[in-house]
Amino acid sequence: MKTPPSRRILAIETSCDETAIAILEASEEKNGTHFNILADKVSSQIAVHAPFGGVVPNLAKREHQKNLSQILLLVLKEAGFSNFKMQIPRHKQIANSKIQAMEKILERETELLKEFKKQIIPLPSPPIDAIAVTYGPGLEPALWVGINFARALSKLWNLPLTPVNHLEGHIYSSMMRNFKFQIPRDKEIFPLLTLIVSGGHTELVLTKTHLSHKILGETHDDAAGEAFDKVAKMLGLSYPGGPEISKRAIYGSPTSIDFPRPMLHSKDLNFSFSGLKTSVLYYLRDAGKISDQTKNDIAASFQQAAIDVLVKKTLDAVKKYKPKAIGLGGGVAANNLLRAELKENIPKIMLPEKIFTGDNASMITTAAYFHLQKKIPRSGTRPGAALKANGALRLS
Ligand code: KG4
Ligand code: ZN
Repeated sequence: MKTPPSRRILAIETSCDETAIAILEASEEKNGTHFNILADKVSSQIAVHAPFGGVVPNLAKREHQKNLSQILLLVLKEAGFSNFKMQIPRHKQIANSKIQAMEKILERETELLKEFKKQIIPLPSPPIDAIAVTYGPGLEPALWVGINFARALSKLWNLPLTPVNHLEGHIYSSMMRNFKFQIPRDKEIFPLLTLIVSGGHTELVLTKTHLSHKILGETHDDAAGEAFDKVAKMLGLSYPGGPEISKRAIYGSPTSIDFPRPMLHSKDLNFSFSGLKTSVLYYLRDAGKISDQTKNDIAASFQQAAIDVLVKKTLDAVKKYKPKAIGLGGGVAANNLLRAELKENIPKIMLPEKIFTGDNASMITTAAYFHLQKKIPRSGTRPGAALKANGALRLS
């Protein structure tokens, strides 16, 4: 049997405060799908949002508009797809109707349209087979910028357009390695259990086969990352708070304050973090002015309480569903204590490399590959097809 040709996919991710684009090449081999990351760029907006203590949607939208064309140029260059010294002014050869269609797609992104016409339209078409884009969940004003940019690109280069669920990206991230990795054959990884822990989500997900998911449990209120961020804010630490809490926790005692472990013994696989967050608030209110050491102790004790629940529920899910493989994904997956405790309790768990824990476009490209493989009839696979952002998109 002839092996099908490899596919090159470019994906765009703008669901929150990172502007990210990646190009991956995928091929089917005997032992699974092989991926090669040809280029991967992430531009973080942390400095823009930090003064506000959190992500401001309209600022995120503006930054994505400003960054996308520039990042695309960098990514094409990194992949070796363009000779930028020899740009031919190709727009003269492009039909007027096509230019008008792209102007229409980007009519609400005036700044992006200007850059797109100046920098992107003149480029020679790169050797890419498909464009993918995150269409949810996330901040809708931010998602729309990426979607419209992807639509305009797919129109310009006449390529199919594939919408991807951001959380599917986080699911694949536990199997991704820099710069080459392999996703094993179905029978070796499915059913796959993934603990997704990010700024917006805390979910235990069972994936029966590629792109077929069931949410086994999720948070009733705050996401784990959100709780880290809010507690950090109470302690006067900078945004995003997750990494700040974990740094402080190294110097604190995790047993010094007995914060609650919400829903630790509930029979289901759901989570709740708002009560834990409120306990920290009350502790601080009663304590008055606190020393630096107390701050470290609060960080360590809070972190331990949150992680105890995450690990216990993941273990419960492993016992109940006996998955073939287990993974961790999302921004909070960068937390060293969470990684260590999960590994100790579930030795076969796949931990994402730190470069893939936060939002990135390589994970979106990987998920997009399986969408393209499945050839599910989906709205929006035509070049330039209309796609809608869905801020509350779910996995099942
Ligand atoms: O996946 P992500 O980059 O964005 C979303 O899709 O939400 O996750 C960001 C979240 C933030 O809440 C951030 O504070 C948290 O991940 N985070 C951490 C750590 N690094 C990032 N939380 C705990 N410990 C960390 N080391
Ligand atoms: Zn994310």
